[in-house]
Amino acid sequence: MIVGERIILRCIDKGDIYKIMHWRNDPEIKKNVFSHTFINSLQQERWFENYCQNNTEERFMIVLKDQDEAIGVNGLSDIDYKNQSAILNTMIGERKYWNQGYAKEATVLIINYAFSELNLNRIVSYSYESNKAIQKKNSNLGFQVEGLLRQMVFSEGEFQNVVIMSLLRGDWNKQKGYNQG
Ligand SMILES: CC(C)(COP(=O)(O)OP(=O)(O)OC[C@H]1O[C@@H](n2cnc3c(N)ncnc32)[C@H](O)[C@@H]1OP(=O)(O)O)[C@@H](O)C(=O)NCCC(=O)NCCS
Repeated sequence: MIVGERIILRCIDKGDIYKIMHWRNDPEIKKNVFSHTFINSLQQERWFENYCQNNTEERFMIVLKDQDEAIGVNGLSDIDYKNQSAILNTMIGERKYWNQGYAKEATVLIINYAFSELNLNRIVSYSYESNKAIQKKNSNLGFQVEGLLRQMVFSEGEFQNVVIMSLLRGDWNKQKGYNQG
């Protein structure tokens, strides 16, 4: 368990997976994530079984400390220990909690975990160009835009450009005043 100021990150358990399915099937969320199908319970159970056997992903439930309420999921996928990189994934599934800094707080915890525990060096975020909230949250944390993948994904009836942003460990440490050089 990773403890923050207002939230904790804890492991995803079997009892969480239908809640995650519900969030992923919410049209307002689905239109922003790179999943092109709605998911049923059997697919969700298979996803969880695969996830449990996969050592290149670490995902956590985001839980409000005070209410003990799960509000989203975040974590790392495509963890590459040789090149010390991973892809960041963030979802606040309970929409009433959007724009209150929860994704930012959860991402800070994941970044510290990635750099200090997993010894990663680079965290990457992919998002549709239209997803300004995730890009704002990332840039608030020091992520830099690396580029634009033009018309990379067909979604919602049109091709979507995908923004790539990244954060390096050196940049993060510098921001936090750790880097004396
Ligand atoms: C994207 C998402 C994770 C953001 O979560 P959140 O908890 O609302 O994010 P935060 O409050 O930490 O930060 C959002 C920032 O974006 C800003 N923002 C929100 N909507 C915006 C918009 N349309 N244009 C510009 N900035 C916007 C907020 O003001 C905030 O910035 P600030 O802290 O400087 O004021 C959440 O909306 C979500 O789960 N969406 C669906 C799934 C998704 O898109 N996941 C990412 C897939 S790549």
